[in-house]
Amino acid sequence: MSVERTLILIKPDGVSRHIIGRIISRFEDKGLRLLAMKFMTVTKQQAEMHYSVHSLKPFFSDLVSYLTSGPIVAMIWEGDNAIVSCRNICGATDGSKAAPGTIRGDFSLNIEENIVHASDSKESYEHEYPIFFNENEIVVK
Ligand code: TYD
Repeated sequence: MSVERTLILIKPDGVSRHIIGRIISRFEDKGLRLLAMKFMTVTKQQAEMHYSVHSLKPFFSDLVSYLTSGPIVAMIWEGDNAIVSCRNICGATDGSKAAPGTIRGDFSLNIEENIVHASDSKESYEHEYPIFFNENEIVVK
């Protein structure tokens, strides 16, 4: 058993489609603990840092434009094996291929607007969470 933290973003399309509550419910239902949550607008610099691993990919500029196109909800969730569990809750990257029952499988039709982000490893989480949160914004009971 490994207690992990993961960064979840509800991307601009998830916010504009009014499904924030339904998305959060899936993580609560799984038994994960919410440690931090923020409704915010992402700057170009934050988006570029968050997706820096993709900086040379042809879709990078569209990805940055998408993440900065409207408000998002940023969250940190904690629990046993939280990283893989949250990736499973989100589903495959491309909404058209994601399994029904996953967030992307239920709410997304394509890869460009896929509703959520979830850290894919502990290293990714360590890179990502400081882009969105200060240490004093993380509530540990
Ligand atoms: P990636 O880290 O591969 O996927 P995930 O979000 O599942 O961890 O890619 C980051 C985002 O980049 C992805 O959510 C959607 C976008 N993307 C594209 O627009 N086109 C692509 O071909 C890929 C691979 C990703």
